[in-house]
Amino acid sequence: MSRATADWSLDGKVAVVTGTAPGGIGETYARALAEAGASVVCADIQASGAKAVADTLIGEGHRAVGVGVDITDPDSTDAMAGVAVREYGGVDILVNNAALMAQLPQIPVLDYDLETWHRAMDVNVNGALHCCRSVVDLMRERGGGRIVNQSSGGAYPPSSVYGITKIALVGLTTALARDLGPDHISVNAIAPGMVESSASLAMVPEGSPFRTMMEQVVVMRPAGQTTDLIGALLLLTAPAGDWITGQVLHVDGGWILRP
Ligand SMILES: NC(=O)c1ccc[n+]([C@@H]2O[C@H](COP(=O)([O-])OP(=O)(O)OC[C@H]3O[C@@H](n4cnc5c(N)ncnc54)[C@H](O)[C@@H]3O)[C@@H](O)[C@H]2O)c1
Repeated sequence: MSRATADWSLDGKVAVVTGTAPGGIGETYARALAEAGASVVCADIQASGAKAVADTLIGEGHRAVGVGVDITDPDSTDAMAGVAVREYGGVDILVNNAALMAQLPQIPVLDYDLETWHRAMDVNVNGALHCCRSVVDLMRERGGGRIVNQSSGGAYPPSSVYGITKIALVGLTTALARDLGPDHISVNAIAPGMVESSASLAMVPEGSPFRTMMEQVVVMRPAGQTTDLIGALLLLTAPAGDWITGQVLHVDGGWILRP
């Protein structure tokens, strides 16, 4: 029997992370993957933000490049994958983290105007699909890969348009896990609880009704830090998690256990 240790190194791997403007979860994801040894493509519709995060990582001695991408546009996601090929020779890991969250109105579903509904689906669901399409052949060329989709505790059960988009991502996760398993590409999702990113702090400040409700129902800390998600990300991207696919990892202080 081989030694009973797990391999957490991403040395030599290439990761593409979407939604990596400063202050968000994507920035933490990019840094975590870089610190584990990966070369990281930081991609965001806010191109200057993605580049700023990449430059910070480079300054810390990591390998990173920042690119502007609009994940609703397949040509743009192809170009993002092209940067990974040009700079680092391929793609091993895709983290579909970019989404609309604070931008989506907190109103009843039937009150949504169709344009905003389509925009929500286009970014949060179709965007992830476009990114997957842009990288899977590159992963196949390298003998396998890892896809991590960023869902949300707000999808369990969905009670908003945002929640609907995030449960659709879970459907995408399980369907792609079945389709891509034979190619040694795992597809999993992370469903965070309330995490203190700049976007969520603006959306649900201290004392807001949602935070008060979370304090009552979450069994551990009601609000997490972006770094609370790193363990799940590494499990789903490092060799240690090689045999895990089609799963949703709830990283939420037990919010999912609410009565
Ligand atoms: N913060 C939380 O409490 C929380 C909880 C559960 C899930 N999430 C999810 O985590 C992810 C990150 O959330 P965050 O809190 O860092 O919010 P955020 O708004 O800071 O991050 C989303 C990023 O996606 C980018 N983006 C938006 N549209 C894009 C497009 N068309 N193309 C490319 N990039 C685009 C934005 O510019 C932004 O940088 C999101 O998927 C969010 O739904 C967040």
